[in-house]
Amino acid sequence: MQIEYVKTYDEMSQKAARSVAQQILLKPESVLGFATGFTPEGMYARLVELYQEGLIDFSKVTTFNLDEYVGLSPDHLQSYHFFMWDRLFGKLNISKEKVYLPDGNVEDVQKSCLIYEEAIQSAGGIDLQVLGIGPNGHIGFNEPGSDLSGMTHVVELTPSTRKANARFFDSVGAVPQKAISMGIKTIMNARRILLLGSGSGKWDIIQKTLHGPITSMIPASILQLHPDVTVIIDQSTTGLK
Ligand code: GLP
Repeated sequence: MQIEYVKTYDEMSQKAARSVAQQILLKPESVLGFATGFTPEGMYARLVELYQEGLIDFSKVTTFNLDEYVGLSPDHLQSYHFFMWDRLFGKLNISKEKVYLPDGNVEDVQKSCLIYEEAIQSAGGIDLQVLGIGPNGHIGFNEPGSDLSGMTHVVELTPSTRKANARFFDSVGAVPQKAISMGIKTIMNARRILLLGSGSGKWDIIQKTLHGPITSMIPASILQLHPDVTVIIDQSTTGLK
């Protein structure tokens, strides 16, 4: 693991965007894995700037998002479809056919998971997967106790994750109970991983993730076993101890 501590959220976002830009420059047809949440928003804004300055071209890029709520339509303001098109895809020259997010707005969500996993395989696998981390150490929506060898699947969200994500909804009750998430194995299959650590109260979980025992109770700790992970930690929000 290559671990970098930076002083501000902007510095983290800038470095992360450069790393994604470098991937695209080296391989224009890259398959990128993206995440939602507050953490990568700054990185997306920097990527849009790099695109507007003519420095990167997304026309050949394929993307797969980590997760999506079950039961929200793509135009729901809190769906991850909406988030990604609003913050990133809608501002780039990316082709709609090359943008993939799990489809949680269907009758057969199990089938949706299989279709998603097959689409990742057909695209040749993920070259670079961007990750944030949840306050309980989740990645994607792989909650503590998740199967470390799991592929894309339906997840029952924990009360703590629903509470953490309630900030985006009118109330905790409005947060969906389920989501579709890439599994830990899907994530571990990515050739490179960029883990961003930002957000108050996350210092301990980040330290346990990076330096503690590998345990399914802290799903992100499995990343210690991945051969090519870069971690960028924003000290301003996680707080130093
Ligand atoms: C959600 C997402 C995760 C994300 C996490 C942290 O639960 N499913 O992919 O990493 O929140 O979000 P934030 O970056 O807003 O702290």
